[in-house]
Amino acid sequence: MNWLLLLTLAIEIPLGLDRFLPVPVGNPLTAEKVAKGRQLFFDKRLSRDGTVACASCHDPARAFSDGHARALGMGGQRGPRRTPRIANRAWGRSFFWDGRAATLEQQVLGPIANPLEMDLDPAEAARRVGLSLEEMRAALASYVRTIRSGDSAYDRYLAGDAAALDAGQKQGLDLFRGKAGCANCHVGPNLTDEDFHYTGAGEDARDAGRAGRGFKTPSLRDAARTPPYMHDGSLATLEAVVDFYNDGGKSHPRLDAEMQPLGLSLGEKRNLVRFLQSLNGRIRDGF
Ligand code: HEC
Ligand code: HEC
Repeated sequence: MNWLLLLTLAIEIPLGLDRFLPVPVGNPLTAEKVAKGRQLFFDKRLSRDGTVACASCHDPARAFSDGHARALGMGGQRGPRRTPRIANRAWGRSFFWDGRAATLEQQVLGPIANPLEMDLDPAEAARRVGLSLEEMRAALASYVRTIRSGDSAYDRYLAGDAAALDAGQKQGLDLFRGKAGCANCHVGPNLTDEDFHYTGAGEDARDAGRAGRGFKTPSLRDAARTPPYMHDGSLATLEAVVDFYNDGGKSHPRLDAEMQPLGLSLGEKRNLVRFLQSLNGRIRDGF
């Protein structure tokens, strides 16, 4: 089912054929909207006291995340969750760690209104930047849709360049698809099934993710660039993530059946981490 998408992405990313970007009929992609959305993304007027922009948390220099375990909003407030990377979200099927937004158009006003993030009535934010609410929403969603990551060593390997991964990384890929079972959930062009699972990750048992379904599988593209990991940043390094899976996750009443102890050797764990590093790509935004 994911093969068609895989081809689409493999073609689109290296050649920059933006016509393959999935775009909803209700918000056609135009150069003007994308440019406006990019301005808005960096505009601190979208926060109540003018100190926080989208890019304060989704920092392009940090693969559109921020390096914090839990997001840092207006007035230094800590949110409950980690800032996710947001490349290739054009292919997303739901948004936020719990998937509570169905489209980017629904998602983008959330952080503006969130009292722990930008804390401003979106209608007031739109007024400040001289747009209607719908124009602001359409521009922000259009820009986020153009943030792409591709042309990683892994993509080049899939495209036929056998030398793009070294022997250790190839073993890592075999483990990822086979014995380690990662591809049960991290599958397809963005290494995510866009579905929800319980892995047991997370220190605050009160944050249950999507009611009765857990947390969304994140894309692993560029993950090596953005420690710490998981929805609450509770694992500091990729090595810690691999150890976590090697132990079968953490005990949880609704733990997914796929979460089993893996029995990986030290060398296998190291090669799995080195494979994850091969997912670092070239990140581009805009038209
Ligand atoms: C204070 C830090 C912060 C700011 C400011 C912020 N975000 Fe986020 N962003 C987050 C966090 C944290 C999440 C995950 C929240 C959750 O799952 O409940 C998130 C989630 C997202 C997602 C969903 C990604 C996915 O794959 O599910 C998108 C898209 C996004 N933000 C775009 C934006 C845009 C556009 C803005 C500005 C209008 C913005 N963010 C402002 C921290 C921030
Ligand atoms: C049962 C489905 C499932 C399996 C199997 C699985 N993952 Fe995950 N993975 C997830 C989910 C869901 C999350 C987010 C969990 C959370 O934040 O609470 C995640 C998070 C991650 C993260 C953190 C990414 C980030 O941005 O925070 C990494 C890295 C990762 N997985 C790698 C792996 C590797 C390597 C394997 C195989 C050893 C694996 N996963 C197996 C579902 C799975």
